Amino acid sequence: STSTMTAVVNADIAGPQISRHLYGHFAEHLGRCIYDGFYVGEDSPIPNVGGIRTDVVEALRQIAIPNLRWPGGCFADEYHWRDGIGPKESRPSMVNTHWGNVVENNHFGTHEFMALCELLDTEPYIVGNVGSGTVQEMADWVEYLTRSGEAPMSRLRRQNGRDEPWKVRFWGIGNETWGCGGNMRAEYYADLARQYATYCRSHDGNELYRIAVGARNDDFDWTQKLMQSISCLGCEQRRRSPYQALAFHYYTSPSEWRKKWSATEFSEEEYYLTMASAWRMDEIIAGHSRVMDCYDPQRQIGLVCDEWGTWWRTEEGTNPRFLYQQNTLRDALVASLHFDIFHQHADRMVMANIAQTVNVLQAMLLTDGPELVLTPTYHVFEMNKGHQDAVHLPLHLKQAAARKEVGDGEISTLSASASVKDGAMLLSATNLDTTDDARLQIEIRGADWQLGTARILTAPKVQSHNTTGEPAAVSPQPFSDVRRDGVNLVVDLPAHSFVTVEVQLG
Ligand code: AHR
Repeated sequence: STSTMTAVVNADIAGPQISRHLYGHFAEHLGRCIYDGFYVGEDSPIPNVGGIRTDVVEALRQIAIPNLRWPGGCFADEYHWRDGIGPKESRPSMVNTHWGNVVENNHFGTHEFMALCELLDTEPYIVGNVGSGTVQEMADWVEYLTRSGEAPMSRLRRQNGRDEPWKVRFWGIGNETWGCGGNMRAEYYADLARQYATYCRSHDGNELYRIAVGARNDDFDWTQKLMQSISCLGCEQRRRSPYQALAFHYYTSPSEWRKKWSATEFSEEEYYLTMASAWRMDEIIAGHSRVMDCYDPQRQIGLVCDEWGTWWRTEEGTNPRFLYQQNTLRDALVASLHFDIFHQHADRMVMANIAQTVNVLQAMLLTDGPELVLTPTYHVFEMNKGHQDAVHLPLHLKQAAARKEVGDGEISTLSASASVKDGAMLLSATNLDTTDDARLQIEIRGADWQLGTARILTAPKVQSHNTTGEPAAVSPQPFSDVRRDGVNLVVDLPAHSFVTVEVQLG
């Protein structure tokens, strides 16, 4: 049977802009994300530029990643940036206590990360250490990166071979301070965030965008306490907030017990529970936004989700603390659903970062020695690239798609979103149903239009995935089940598929 969703899109009524930073990324010193993933060292036989893998850079440039968050995650709150500068042979090592107790040699540090961002043509998003660092240490790092002239930290940077300061806009004030970043209470961190943010200065025209640690999942109380601590309700003049955004984390998993669930071997029930978990992102964003609206009705404080994605049992034979997992069509559909949700909340959501880019959790890329595999999730980022910085065009539902009972609730198995940029509309649509087709019928009002190209990402099974032996098992293909019917654009989506359609306007 075919479920149908009908909607109206007003091509001439602009919604908010979809920040390109909603397509952000995350690279932590965790497992094989940095070492082996991004960085193999200059002496590696794997082609590299200054130790950074050429194939990884080329693949990521294709999906235009807008920002890269580093060095963690939990690692950020035990990282001391001074250990990662200067000649590699004299950099002290440390123990990465969160991620396998392995020894970190600090060969990939500040200069290597900034070189990576330059190669990727992406903005750095650096997370400072609140959990085990000091205000002074964080302030110095900002100065080291962004100050010109004769200041002590700019001199040190110059001694290490970099004359010009870098541009660094995004700055994180710790990570998960309610957990691995210090196990703090909201009240305590609320004050610390103000204090740390105060000393993270905007040097020489480098305007910092400071991002404080937000809630774990739906901990709206955390959001409320932080918002309260920076707001001044009833005051005649609003104070300028010491930080500009709050970043919550939410991972997709059929239940809290993440160690249980296999990335590739799962039942239909697990599949739908996963989708119900992914849909929760919508309620969670709505909940945080409602709290923020009470204190900041003008929406000056941004909402960020700087860790999202699926979290599965690690692949057999790999270090369980390295969080290496395969990535199937199911992961891709989780990603496309997230993007629809982020687009819907573009008026408050300013950034999101999938965890993580290479070899960890819901990765875009998996490496195996010199081999590189593009995951199904990678293809969603590529197919959705056109939404970056486009104007959101809300879908006004005339008829909602059928809902499916899952666990104690029900979910929609059809999701879609649209945006316009440079005279072209991009429509993304996801059919989550494992057996049934779905029809999306959209009346496009307010502009003449012509059907452009359409592509589909699907595979025989939701468990299908890419490997070095079969690298294109799940990869985008041209799609033809899309047509114009009078004022309507009609898309017939096969079971478990993601489709993008370009429409020329005007
Ligand atoms: O992304 C893996 C870990 O998940 C991060 O280090 C931490 O912030 C979160 O708990």
